[in-house]
Parts: sequence; C-alpha cells; structure tokens
Amino acid sequence: MFDNTHAHITTWVIGLILFIVAIVLHKSGKEKAMKVVQMILRVFYLLILATGITLFAKHSDFDPALYGVKFLFGVVVIAMMEMVLIRTKLGKKTGIFWAVLIIAFIATFYLGARLPLNWNWFA
Ligand code: HEM
Repeated sequence: MFDNTHAHITTWVIGLILFIVAIVLHKSGKEKAMKVVQMILRVFYLLILATGITLFAKHSDFDPALYGVKFLFGVVVIAMMEMVLIRTKLGKKTGIFWAVLIIAFIATFYLGARLPLNWNWFA
C-alpha cells in the first residue's frame, strides 16, 4: 500500500462506479437506494483519501509541487462528486459542478499517471 498504487486505484475506481450508480438510481426515482449508495460512496471518499495520503506521505519528496497539485485535484474530484449528488437530489443546477468534476478528474488522472509510481505514461 505504501509503494504501489493498487489500493488507491481500486478505491477511486469503485468510488467512480458508486457515483454513477447513485446518479442512475436517482434518474430511475429510487431515492432510498440512492441514499444507501451515497453512504457507501462516502466511506470510499475516506478510503481514496487514506490511500492517497499514504502514497503522498511516502513519495511526495520526489516532486513536492506536482504531488501537491495531484493531492489538490484529487480532493476537488471528491468534493465535486459530493456536490453533484447533493444538488441532483435537491433538484438544483449541477452544470458548473459537472464541468469542474470532469476537468479535475482529467487533471488528477493525468498527474497520477505522470507521477513515477506504477503507471508512468507521460514521463
Ligand atoms: C477520485 C479522486 C482520485 C483519482 C481519480 C486519482 C487517480 C490517481 C491515478 C490515476 C494515479 C496513478 C496510479 C498509478 O500510477 O499507478 C494516482 C496516484 C496517486 N494519487 Fe490519486 N486519485 C484521486 C485522489 C487522490 C487524493 C485525494 C490524493 C491525496 C490525498 C491522491 C494522491 C495520490 C498519490 C500520492 C499518488 C501516487 C502518484 C505516483 O507517484 O504515481 N489521489 N491517483
């Protein structure tokens, strides 16, 4: 968990799936089921953070600035997932939050894959 990113990837992939499931459940009017999925998703937010912080603590010395930006964008992705779900439930506009979510996700993914552990696609 300290030197490879498998646990981290597992947690954010499951988080992403739960987020999509919650949206689909809302669209099909299954509010109760959506609430349960959202609760599980919140546990996964914590797991994404815990695995991310663990990697950050051990490896950020390599490039503190880039790791710092990765950390920040990762937190923004989580915050936007939560905002989109809450506002969707309240029937409020979500356009800007979707936009920030997608941009932050692409940035987080790019930085993760660029940084040196495991996936190292853009180095
Ligand atoms: C949903 C949000 C997130 C997504 C989609 C995401 C995505 C990724 C990806 C694609 C990688 C590269 C995996 C690899 O190289 O094998 C990665 C690595 C990493 N992530 Fe995240 N991440 C997220 C949240 C976070 C958070 C919140 C933190 C900090 C608390 C964080 C810290 C890290 C660190 C330190 C690495 C290791 C970078 C390396 O050296 O390769 N991530 N993440």
